[in-house]
Amino acid sequence: MTTIADLSNHIGQTVTLTAWLTDQSGKGKLQFLKLRDGTGFVQATVFKADVPEEIFEAAKRLRQEQSLTVTGEVRADERAPGGVELSVRDLSPLADVVGEYPITPKEHGIDFLMDHRHLWLRHRRPWAILRVRDAVQRAVTDFFHAQGFIRFDSPFFTPNAAEDTTELFEIDLFGEDKAYLSQTGQLHAEAGALAFGKVYTFGPTFRAEKSKTRRHLLEFWMIEPEVAPSSHAQNMDLQEAFVSFLVRRVLDECQEELRVLGRDTAKLAGAAEGNYPRVPYTEALDIIRKHIEDGDLPPNVQADVQPVEWGDDLGAPHETILGYHFDRPVMIEKYPAAIKAFYMQPDPQDPRVALCDDMIAPEGYGEIIGGSERIHDYILLRERIEAQGLPLEAFEWYLDLRRYGSVPHAGFGMGLERVIAWLCGIDHIREAIPFPRMLTRMYP
Ligand code: 4AD
Ligand code: MG
Repeated sequence: MTTIADLSNHIGQTVTLTAWLTDQSGKGKLQFLKLRDGTGFVQATVFKADVPEEIFEAAKRLRQEQSLTVTGEVRADERAPGGVELSVRDLSPLADVVGEYPITPKEHGIDFLMDHRHLWLRHRRPWAILRVRDAVQRAVTDFFHAQGFIRFDSPFFTPNAAEDTTELFEIDLFGEDKAYLSQTGQLHAEAGALAFGKVYTFGPTFRAEKSKTRRHLLEFWMIEPEVAPSSHAQNMDLQEAFVSFLVRRVLDECQEELRVLGRDTAKLAGAAEGNYPRVPYTEALDIIRKHIEDGDLPPNVQADVQPVEWGDDLGAPHETILGYHFDRPVMIEKYPAAIKAFYMQPDPQDPRVALCDDMIAPEGYGEIIGGSERIHDYILLRERIEAQGLPLEAFEWYLDLRRYGSVPHAGFGMGLERVIAWLCGIDHIREAIPFPRMLTRMYP
């Protein structure tokens, strides 16, 4: 058995495939069958003179998404995607199709397609996007392995909040205790870093996001490296090396997928190269203000966008402005400590700001990474936990990491779906995961 992806190695030979029919057309003595087999897509031609009568008739009766085995001769064809076509000699359906396949070649709305996500996965666009996702997942593992990290799995149930406490999914533990679905693997990864030096987590994380945006899921996958010892500057070096590696890998491995998606890959050239600018928050506010004053705004940013006052967080339109200002990802560093998480190390030069950064992707894709140096001083961390009104008991284990052998350490979290959406050039994160979970989407 051959696969469609492998056909170009069999030009002139007769091969047999198991495939599904995606579309069909024909006239007179010719039937054109569009086939897929998961590895790719190919057109097969059935010429009446080449096959017995009953095979030609069977080809005409095939239904959309019918499974079949097909035997044919592989022919080079420059116009065909993948460079080959199949001249059919024999075929036989493997099962009947029950009813009408719902996703027809006509245009469907996104809600209809998402309701049929379990079937839509078979079509070209999800095929391309989810293969890019797979390539990125493999690249993540390869990158960290080559750098001497070990993969370290944080739990999905946690006793404590780590990020915004309003975004916690609470779990009732048999009426006794409470636990939460993890918003981040970071805190447990810190225990890992102090045990192994360099670790990364890679798993699903959960946020009770009540906002409907193009960038938020309730369940998303995060990659969180944590290094001890490490500093804010080294943390940014790692982010740049990591993201540029992922971009290069996708450009290398996913040419066909990016072509299917119509992605303008020239726009990824800067990201593949590295040299990401590092811009302090305070300077970023000036860049944003200047764009607003000059009326020099990217598409999707409303004309009435307001500048950011020092101390306020950046909104999506501000990140979009910054994303268009640079031709590659930019790291905005040293945000006001008051708008960031309790565990971030204050800047010794200016304790109003934290030794942290957000990486903003180009083209309006917004924040793809959040990271920081962590507070390593026991007293300071304890104060911060108390000042936030967080329950100290739940953090005793975390404070132990500062009681025993503390060192400056740092790490970051990258949202996988945000990166996939950016690399693929798609405008909503829901297509970057097989089955998205959102306020408005739990089915299928
Ligand atoms: O900036 P965040 O909240 O940072 C953390 O959770 C840190 N504990 C990470 C760390 O330092 N180890 O989230 C990190 C990234 C964001 O930059 C974004 O890419 C993604 O996670 N993200 C989401 N992706 C999809 N849907 C959501 N609701 C997301 N929230 C965050
Ligand atoms: Mg963040």
